[in-house]
Parts: sequence; structure tokens; C-alpha cells
Amino acid sequence: MALNYISLLNTKLRPIPSGRPLVLDLFAGGGGLALGFEAQGFSTLGFDNDPDCCATYEKNLHGRCIHIELTRTSDYPRADVVIGGPPCQPFSVRGKRQGTSDERNGFPAFIRAIEQVQPKIFIFENVRGMIHNRNRGYLDEIVSALRSLNYLIEFQLLNFSHFSVPQRRERVIAVGHRGKFNFPRPSDRIVTAGEALGTMASSTPPDSKYLTPSMDEYVAKYEKLSQCIRPRDLHLDQPARTLTCRNLAGATADMMRIRLPDGRRRRLLVREAARLQSFPDTFEFAGKEESQFNQIGNAVPPLFAYYLAGCVREYLESNFHMTATEIGF
Ligand SMILES: C[S@@+](CC[C@H](N)C(=O)[O-])C[C@H]1O[C@@H](n2cnc3c(N)ncnc32)[C@H](O)[C@@H]1O
Repeated sequence: MALNYISLLNTKLRPIPSGRPLVLDLFAGGGGLALGFEAQGFSTLGFDNDPDCCATYEKNLHGRCIHIELTRTSDYPRADVVIGGPPCQPFSVRGKRQGTSDERNGFPAFIRAIEQVQPKIFIFENVRGMIHNRNRGYLDEIVSALRSLNYLIEFQLLNFSHFSVPQRRERVIAVGHRGKFNFPRPSDRIVTAGEALGTMASSTPPDSKYLTPSMDEYVAKYEKLSQCIRPRDLHLDQPARTLTCRNLAGATADMMRIRLPDGRRRRLLVREAARLQSFPDTFEFAGKEESQFNQIGNAVPPLFAYYLAGCVREYLESNFHMTATEIGF
């Protein structure tokens, strides 16, 4: 079964050289979103302040990734498409939720980039927490700032498990455009973690990190306290729960782990995490293990990005584009 999923990744997610048009990828990370766009024939130019992310991007994609701290005064080349994952900590349900006041908030820089570049279409991705009541006021502010730049803004909360990604991962996808944009259509076909990992799930490579008895005890205590009915090990008969930087890289009670046939539990490997995020096995991550896990946990699954980029391509190819007056501004 793993073969079907892997061949899906290998056939769909091939970056095409010298594609067109150009996509500016702000807060690009290791290039999960960009991989989907390059595989649909776009060329990309990434921007990120993390050198490991830029190295990963350039190792695997045709586009360059500029190592830069994005601010409201950053400059960009002309482009038809802007995409981005402005830092999500300010909105994370798990994080401290400081919204606008959080200095890690990337939206002021993102909005300014749209104002300067005036792309035909733009997309940003963010965590589910963004549409929660507590953050809703700030989302409305962002939408209103982007509308004032003469765009129609539409957003949807999507679960990537409905796009053949073997993971229940919900994210807000917002699109700004001046015509008619169709979001990718969810499907009923679900890929399980077992289908994605195949025999890897029972392997014990030399670099495996096993849970110690005291970690087992700690996890059990946490699960009891949080009234968790089924242990939060990876269940191979369903999609994985959401992969995050914290549960991949951190030794927390919530860490992602697999129970092996012999009863031992080990933490997820980088390659397993990458598979559950739909990165092809040929995609290599730069940096130390923690950095690699962060790049994976932060990424938009490339397979979903591929379907999304297909919708952007259709949008650009359609003749239905409105003027600012027609949009009603
Ligand atoms: C959610 S991740 C993006 C994931 C990416 N879209 C993907 O699919 O792989 C956000 C990225 O923003 C970068 N970042 C945060 N603040 C930044 C800033 N001020 N300037 C540039 N990059 C920044 C982080 O290093 C991180 O890689």
C-alpha cells in the first residue's frame, strides 16, 4: 500500500525547471508550499530568516531562497503570485495567543508586500486558531487591510487528510484575487499513516530513540490527566494527528511516537515525519535534527500545495478578472 502513496508523491511532486509565472514565497520555510507550486510549473523565489530553511529550499527546489528578516520595509521583485506562511505562533491554539502584540507576527510585512507587489492573486496559510473568537477581530483587521488593496478575500478551513495527506491537519487557507477562484475539492479517499509508512513503521534503525520507562510513566500520567481514551501513539489504521514542531522535536508528553511489534515505543524519525507531511523521500532537509523537525512541522504538506497551485494556475488562465470598480471598491 505504501507504494501507491509513494508513487503518488513521486509522480505529482516533481519540481519543473524554469517554470512560469514567478511566485514570491514569503516566510518560505523549507519549501513545502513552494514544492507544490514548482510541481505545477511555476517558478518560485523564497524569503526566510532561517539559514537551514533556505538551504533546504535551494537543495530541493529550482528557486532560490533569500536569507532575510522580512519587515514592513522589505523590497520585492514584480510577480503575479505571492504565497506565504506568516509565522503562526501568535494564533496557535496551543501557544500563548498574543495576536497582534506578538512580535513574531508576520502579517504587517505580508500586507505591505501585497501592497507593493500588487500580484494577480495571493494566498496565505495559517493555523486553525486564526478563526477562533479570540483572534477573530485581528483576522477581520487583516482581511479589511487586504480588501482595501482591491482584492476579494475568501478563506476556508481545510483538513488536509481530505487531500490524500495521511494526517488530520486543519489549516486556514486565505486567497486574495480579482475574479473567480475555486478552492481545491476535498475527497473522501483517506490515506492512513500505515499506508504512508509501510514497513518503515516497524523498523528499528540504529538512530532510533526509544521511550524510557520514566518517559512511558510520564506519558501515561499525562494521558490519564487529559482523559485521553486511546494512547496517543501513531495509529496505523488512520491518518496521523497533526504534526507540529513541538510534538516532533520536543521530548514532551505529547510527542509523536510509534509502538513497535515488540511493544517498545520509539519517537518518529525525520523520514517518517516527512512522509506523513507528504514530502517525497528524495526531499532532503538541511540542518540538525531539531531544525529538520521544525521545517517539517511548519510546512504546508506539498501534496495539498500541489492541488492548491493547480487552482491558482486555473485562476490565472481564466479570462474572468474584474477591475477594482467591478469588485466594488
Ligand atoms: C510556518 S513556516 C512556513 C512554512 C512554509 N510555508 C512551508 O510550507 O514549508 C514560517 C517561516 O517563517 C520564517 N520567519 C519567521 N519570521 C520571519 C521573518 N521576520 N522574516 C523571514 N522569515 C521569517 C520562519 O523561519 C519559518 O520558516
